Amino acid sequence: MKTKIKESSLYLTKKGIQPGSIGIILGTGLGDLINHINIETEIAFDEIPHFPKATVEYHSGKLIYGTLNEKKVLVFQGRFHLYEGYNFFEITYPVRILNSLGVEKVIISNAAGAINLEFNKGEIMLIEDHINLQGGSPLAEKGTEELGNRFVDMSEPYSVSMKKLIKKIAQKEKIKLHKGIYAAVVGPQLETKAEYRYLKIIGADAVGMSTVPEVIVANQLQMECVAFSVLTDVCDPENLKPVDIPDIMAMAKKAEQNLIILVKELISSL
Ligand code: HPA
Repeated sequence: MKTKIKESSLYLTKKGIQPGSIGIILGTGLGDLINHINIETEIAFDEIPHFPKATVEYHSGKLIYGTLNEKKVLVFQGRFHLYEGYNFFEITYPVRILNSLGVEKVIISNAAGAINLEFNKGEIMLIEDHINLQGGSPLAEKGTEELGNRFVDMSEPYSVSMKKLIKKIAQKEKIKLHKGIYAAVVGPQLETKAEYRYLKIIGADAVGMSTVPEVIVANQLQMECVAFSVLTDVCDPENLKPVDIPDIMAMAKKAEQNLIILVKELISSL
């Protein structure tokens, strides 16, 4: 595993990627951030040795290297999910590459359903903590010690200092920013009413199908990370309507410009 990661990152180093940039994993609702980057290099995922093979859906997945607000950023556009049939090692491979390339800070975004009924669709939640309901761990691998600790501390998985900065920026920019707990499920089916009730009881504020494995690996590698959820639907089990995917996409778009402001200013202040 270690050799594969080294070979992947060596390939990228040869493409001109320097250590010390800020890592970004773009989920739904932050794609437009790319248009704010002064791009130096674009590398298709399928060009990178040992990178998980893309499904048709992620044909366009690419790694983008460039400058955003005078800081070097390394952005994974398009991520891998368990629900596409990838395993935990594959979905967290981008984080291991970032680490191997000398990245110490990672910003992650995702789309999520709001469990907390005080939240509205189209708003943003900063993840304070999470609940892993994916039935596995990216660290439960043979040879995981080769890559870092096995028994990784998760008492503070999201960077306290970066979260503080984000809250200040949101206040200054008058952007409504919820804070809450993200529960990660496998998907791809959405939840039943009973499952939404369960998620509320166990303390989740939002539910989605990604991010937690990446955060676990970032913690194993002692990288600082923060994650945002774009709230695309409100999951009220007493008034549950059939899922409307076009509406989910529209709500992700609605939150996008505010999320871009938060991420850009965060990057400036790091
Ligand atoms: N559940 C799981 N994932 C999601 C949801 C949801 O309701 N909305 C957006 N991503």
